[in-house]
Amino acid sequence: MALNGFLDLMLMPCLCLLMLVVRDAQGDVSYSFPEEMKPGSVIGNIAKDLGIDVKRLAARKARIDTEGRGKRYCDINVNTGELTVAERIDREEICGDEVSCVLKFDLILEQPLELHRVSLQVEDINDNAPVFSKDVITFEIRESAVRGARYRVNEAHDADIGQNTVRGYVLEKNEHFSLAVNTNNYGRKYVELVLDKEIDRELEKEIKLILTAVDGGTPPKSGSVTIHVNVLDANDNAPVFSQTDYRSNLPENPPLGTIVVTVSATDVDEGLNGKVTYEFGRISGKAKKIFSLDQGNGQITVTGHIDFEEASIYEMTVEAKDEFGLSSEANVLIKILDINDNPPEIFLKSLHTPVPENVSPGTEVGIINVQDKDTENNGQVRLSIQQNVPFKLVPSLKSYYSLVVEGQLDRELVSDYNFTVTATDEGSPPLSSSKTIHLLIADVNDNHPVFEEQFYNAHVKENNKPGSSVCKVAATDSDWRQNGTVVYSILPADVNGSPVTSFLSINGDTGVIHAVRSFDYEQFKSFKVLVLARDNGSPPLSSNVTVNVFIIDENDNSPQILYPSLEGNTFMTEMVPKATQSGSLVSKVIAVDADSGQNAWLSYHIVKATDSGLFTIGEHSGEIRLQKDISESINIKQNLIVSVKDNGEPSLSATCSLYLLISDNLAEVPELKDMSYDDSSSKLTFYLIIALVSVSTFFLTFIIIILAVRFCHRRKPRILFDGAVAIPSAYLPPNYADVEGAGTLRSTYNYDAYLTTGSRTSDFKFVTSYNDVTLPSDLTLKNVQSSMDDLSGLDGDTFDSSKVCFFTDILIRILFRLIIIFFSFAK
Ligand SMILES: *[C@@H]1O[C@H](CO)[C@@H](O)[C@H](O)[C@H]1NC(C)=O
Ligand SMILES: *[C@@H]1O[C@H](CO)[C@@H](O)[C@H](O)[C@H]1NC(C)=O
Ligand SMILES: *[C@@H]1O[C@H](CO)[C@@H](O)[C@H](O)[C@H]1NC(C)=O
Repeated sequence: MALNGFLDLMLMPCLCLLMLVVRDAQGDVSYSFPEEMKPGSVIGNIAKDLGIDVKRLAARKARIDTEGRGKRYCDINVNTGELTVAERIDREEICGDEVSCVLKFDLILEQPLELHRVSLQVEDINDNAPVFSKDVITFEIRESAVRGARYRVNEAHDADIGQNTVRGYVLEKNEHFSLAVNTNNYGRKYVELVLDKEIDRELEKEIKLILTAVDGGTPPKSGSVTIHVNVLDANDNAPVFSQTDYRSNLPENPPLGTIVVTVSATDVDEGLNGKVTYEFGRISGKAKKIFSLDQGNGQITVTGHIDFEEASIYEMTVEAKDEFGLSSEANVLIKILDINDNPPEIFLKSLHTPVPENVSPGTEVGIINVQDKDTENNGQVRLSIQQNVPFKLVPSLKSYYSLVVEGQLDRELVSDYNFTVTATDEGSPPLSSSKTIHLLIADVNDNHPVFEEQFYNAHVKENNKPGSSVCKVAATDSDWRQNGTVVYSILPADVNGSPVTSFLSINGDTGVIHAVRSFDYEQFKSFKVLVLARDNGSPPLSSNVTVNVFIIDENDNSPQILYPSLEGNTFMTEMVPKATQSGSLVSKVIAVDADSGQNAWLSYHIVKATDSGLFTIGEHSGEIRLQKDISESINIKQNLIVSVKDNGEPSLSATCSLYLLISDNLAEVPELKDMSYDDSSSKLTFYLIIALVSVSTFFLTFIIIILAVRFCHRRKPRILFDGAVAIPSAYLPPNYADVEGAGTLRSTYNYDAYLTTGSRTSDFKFVTSYNDVTLPSDLTLKNVQSSMDDLSGLDGDTFDSSKVCFFTDILIRILFRLIIIFFSFAK
């Protein structure tokens, strides 16, 4: 036992030195204080002694750690930095006979990991009295014993140490014996009774004495034993051991009954006097439970569990006694050898879970401590971590390891880790143990919402109901909970000068886009909006997507006929010369449709004709052609009703009337009013009559003058006409001129309209046919023209230039006829 304590004492400074060399930054601190202090008593201010900031103790999770599962005898007060007693410290229980009783703790601080070794030197107090191993000691003494004979007495044992252990012995006053206290080879005291005065067996058969042992404590404590001396009348010799020291090495965990060592002593006496018995002398309580001594043959055998980790050396004395009580003593030293019987232990000292996924590589997330109770190689431990995890172990202080993040974490890929760390010692065979660590990864808002499509196309029929859904956008965000909850909105912008919100609205939760108003294809055909998806993290992340809205045309516009005009004037009469060949172009219906595509693809049909079969109309061109040669019997006034239909579903249509006059000569023109079928033409007729009357009056006057001149001068007049009648080239109203040519179909469909514009001048052959006819004078034409301008002023809306030209043309023809009649009449 003493050796054990001695070793400890020797090793301690070496360890401290090692620590100092290895880790300059870490300080060690040592306190000395008496055993049996009340829990809560302050041992010292450890924070102050180590120079640690008291305010940061709690934040750094300061704590006292013991090795393995040992008791924690003290605690740290994180508010004051004081080291206090946590529970009863009994030096005798913890250290037994050891001279030095040192408790070792670690003070652990995190962020960064810091470890300080704390040594507590437990001082002895005199709380134990000396105790003799027996209550009664019996001696058998020969009558013939001479003065000075010595009789050995088993010493008293005091659990305390140093001053507080047995200091001296006091023997009850008597006439025969005195006390001698000696020191043996090992420096231990032993007591002998010394015979001072011979005993006469006839006077005294037995003597009783009290021996008291006193310790050196203040106040001292004592214990006593009764010595019983029997007086014999025969000679005797004490037994003698073959060795004074017995030593044995014993591997730990031996089976019960293993013989450790055999002691033997011999007695030269014959018979009963020579019979030797053995018994333990001084032996610790612990050893007494483990070893037993055979009284007869001196064999020491194992009777309990022997663990190297509990004690590595057992020391005891064995006494050999003969029947007369004469005895001698030998020392037995049993050394226990270590066997690798303890697997390493892994202690997870701290674990920061959950770990935010954005921690930088190198961040410490946990502290692991490994311990192995075995010694030397058997206690050397290596800690390893499972492969394929983004964590590594960094050896820290002594048997501590930091668990450190290695590489990037991503909760969206792996949200928790279960990995094992394995500790293996270097014994043979090696022992190992492992521990599974469960680490959760916490979410950080690091993912943008992602739309399922790169862009969205929505097709909406025009004239849609406000509130109808247009399309649905969807975005996903792989973050957790609110960091991954997506809210949709439309980014403010202008569409054709109005805010986009007056066109579309979006449901923030579902991403369904609704139309706010009814769309008109003829107003605009498409527009685009940006939809934003934002998550609910803080700060939020967002992304946007383009939604193209295409408006689909509906057949909501009927064809519009540009020529012949529907309004007002029924005198849109075409002249068809009698000599016209069959198949010739005689007129053309021009129509447009504001819709597009099929909805604007027009077809032309004759629905009613004066003489059916005489004319045909090109289904898509609207060109009216003569189908057969004109016979003499035919009605010279032809009326056609043409219907123009678009190709929409359902289709829309418009109709118009066309008047054709089959004649070479204006003289053949019947009364024009016969051709009027409706009321709208009566007004025109009226004007015409006025014009005729005024022209006639004018001519009459003119003729009178001419006649007068003729009668007076007999001169022939010269009349010239330049063919001033022209048909305007541009028939299309400006609002149809900008028809967009975006769709391929559209340009084809509008082809008719364009073609007509270009080709119409040549269609009206009758204009040139009058070129060689002469007019009376320039003046005449001018006057006619100006009178027509006046007419236009009366009804400006209905008279366009073509009509005026047409009327002028008619008027001039009539005028000519009149002049011709007049001249022939005059001749
Ligand atoms: C890890 O272990 C825990 C239980 O300890 C379990 O709930 C979890 O699902 C495991 N995780 C993985 C990724 O295996
Ligand atoms: C969302 O992310 C933030 C950091 O961006 C984090 O603090 C928060 O805990 C996360 N929320 C959830 C529910 O994980
Ligand atoms: C839309 O997203 C693009 C990148 O995808 C970004 O550059 C742009 O600024 C965003 N627009 C708005 C209005 O947020």
